[in-house]
Amino acid sequence: MTTVLVTGASGFIGSHLVEECLDRGWRVRALDALIPYYDPAVKRRNAHRLARHPACTYVEEELVEALPDILVGVDYVCHLAAQAGVRQSWGHEFDVYTHLNITTLQRLFEAAKSAPLKKIVFASSSSVYGDAEDLPTREDTILRPVSPYGATKAMGEHLAYLYWRSFGLPIVSVRYFTVYGPRQRPDMAFSRAIAAALDGDEFTLYGDGRQTRDFTFVSDAVAGTLAAAERGIPGRAYNLGGGSRVSMREVIEVIDELAGPLRVRYAERQRGDARDTAADISRAREELGFTPRHNLRAGLRAQLDWQRAAREAVTVA
Ligand SMILES: NC(=O)c1ccc[n+]([C@@H]2O[C@H](COP(=O)([O-])OP(=O)(O)OC[C@H]3O[C@@H](n4cnc5c(N)ncnc54)[C@H](O)[C@@H]3O)[C@@H](O)[C@H]2O)c1
Repeated sequence: MTTVLVTGASGFIGSHLVEECLDRGWRVRALDALIPYYDPAVKRRNAHRLARHPACTYVEEELVEALPDILVGVDYVCHLAAQAGVRQSWGHEFDVYTHLNITTLQRLFEAAKSAPLKKIVFASSSSVYGDAEDLPTREDTILRPVSPYGATKAMGEHLAYLYWRSFGLPIVSVRYFTVYGPRQRPDMAFSRAIAAALDGDEFTLYGDGRQTRDFTFVSDAVAGTLAAAERGIPGRAYNLGGGSRVSMREVIEVIDELAGPLRVRYAERQRGDARDTAADISRAREELGFTPRHNLRAGLRAQLDWQRAAREAVTVA
């Protein structure tokens, strides 16, 4: 039976990835340290049902502490554990980013040298591109991140490449483009906008709303990650984008229609935010068979339904 280690398993994308692996009949080692970047109670709820699954072993520990034993008997590692968030990565907070996104990753690669893994998938980000000159952006574009967070992900990709070159580690990087859907992190824009609409509060939008993103529904990101585990070519990076570029104004219109009225306050664009992102997914399509399947409206509807239900569950409890 295939065994996969998912790090960051109680987080937004990680909890969906664990679910999909269990649905495929795989055995899962799910690791998360419940880092308090956002409320650990939210992460516990994300993982609650999965942790009780007979094929899932849940480990609440920092990855560096769990290495190297956590790798024994593992086929694939999907390494999603990281400190996410672009805007918080400036100033003294950067220490957390270097520890969780760079040092921890290097320790994982060191430990992996003596583990017969089939593949390690490293969760990178469209943030490595910064304000890319070419849109949609191809993987071989020069990386020029515009945030410290993006710089840690670019460094992670360099480590992935050099551990592949030097030790033959079968590492593949996947670049996620703004992922959304049920369990989206509470600091992310869709999450905040939906919460504001449901509460009748004002939603603060940084920038003029004309910035565009290649929004990716979470199950598409998960499918791409597992395709990278099974078919990705070691030493390579793959864009995993949703397949269409949409402005924040368009997103607001849809949320307003589904859950509104949504009142918006426009605030100054934040340092570190890229102006636009768009993924050229031809490499992922050709080499991984990756095809994003969800459109924005259906995906937003799913996220809205989940946020509504999650609030009701908390109120009842
Ligand atoms: N959500 C997005 O749109 C997006 C976009 C690009 C890249 N990514 C990357 O995808 C991954 C998952 O993102 P997410 O949005 O699900 O974030 P998340 O914060 O919800 O999940 C990350 C999880 O990792 C855990 N973690 C962090 N460091 C750890 C460590 N050293 N040991 C054990 N657990 C640790 C945290 O507790 C958290 O639950 C991250 O690497 C992130 O940088 C996400």
